[in-house]
Amino acid sequence: MVSNTDIIGTYNGKIDLVRNLTISPFSRAYTFSDSIYEVIPFYNRNFFYFDKHFTRLSNSLNALAIEINLQKVKDELYELLKHVTYQNGYIYYQISRGTDPIRNHIQVDGLEAETFGYILEHDYKTQELNIKIVDDLRWGRCDIKSTSLLANVMGMNEAKKENCQEIIMHRDGIITEGGASNIFFVIDGIIFTPALGNNILPGITREILIELVRSNGIEIREDKFLIDDLLKSQSIWLTSSTKCIAPVRKIVNLDLNLDLNEPVMNRCIAILDKEFKSNSINL
Ligand code: PDD
Repeated sequence: MVSNTDIIGTYNGKIDLVRNLTISPFSRAYTFSDSIYEVIPFYNRNFFYFDKHFTRLSNSLNALAIEINLQKVKDELYELLKHVTYQNGYIYYQISRGTDPIRNHIQVDGLEAETFGYILEHDYKTQELNIKIVDDLRWGRCDIKSTSLLANVMGMNEAKKENCQEIIMHRDGIITEGGASNIFFVIDGIIFTPALGNNILPGITREILIELVRSNGIEIREDKFLIDDLLKSQSIWLTSSTKCIAPVRKIVNLDLNLDLNEPVMNRCIAILDKEFKSNSINL
């Protein structure tokens, strides 16, 4: 694991150690969270489903009407990967609307989008999680991968006090997603996951897993589900680009009997793992 001081980053196309980057406090990322981001995993130095991440990045930019040369963004991402030698990791990359001359909600004309990213080594292994269920306090466009994550941060830090590593959020009893992940659960051999909408992020891992599960003939249903539905489940897991599939060990505020060897979940872990290790875009 590298120390914080050695992390390679990029700011407006310039590659350097993150500690050497200087960024204005008038960056709209800093004052307003007026920015979007992506987390793109790589394994054996190959990005995992790069195009899906790039399309979502472009969708987030469009939703916020931030304009930027996408080829430049792509070049910066590949450039970061060339600057490290490790095999497995991920890139965090964010784009803000730009740096204001002075803080003002209304953007000035001619702002140039600002990019910041870094690359980090990561060990992709299955990790079991303790979870707390919390109210979903977020805004109405959770489908945009914006850096405005205050409600997620509050929920996850609240849960940490009870030795939890993640949360499951709900709105009026309807399950939305994890703090930094999507949720799946199994009842009697069938997989369930909340359907996409404005209230959840269209996770790339979620999308890939659903495609793989269907092509393997396993039944999966996307719909509206309640916290009460979790009471009937034999296994629950969360998905994300850095966690892959993370089985839920227990939910601290729900009385459940989860089976960490539940066969459908274990099949999903194996299917995704195989795809992760074999899928590649050669550099
Ligand atoms: N988070 N939902 C939320 C709220 C997320 O923040 C994430 C990912 C996901 C899963 O998306 P994906 O499978 O594309 O990673 C769902 C990233 C990893 C993060 O913020 O670090």
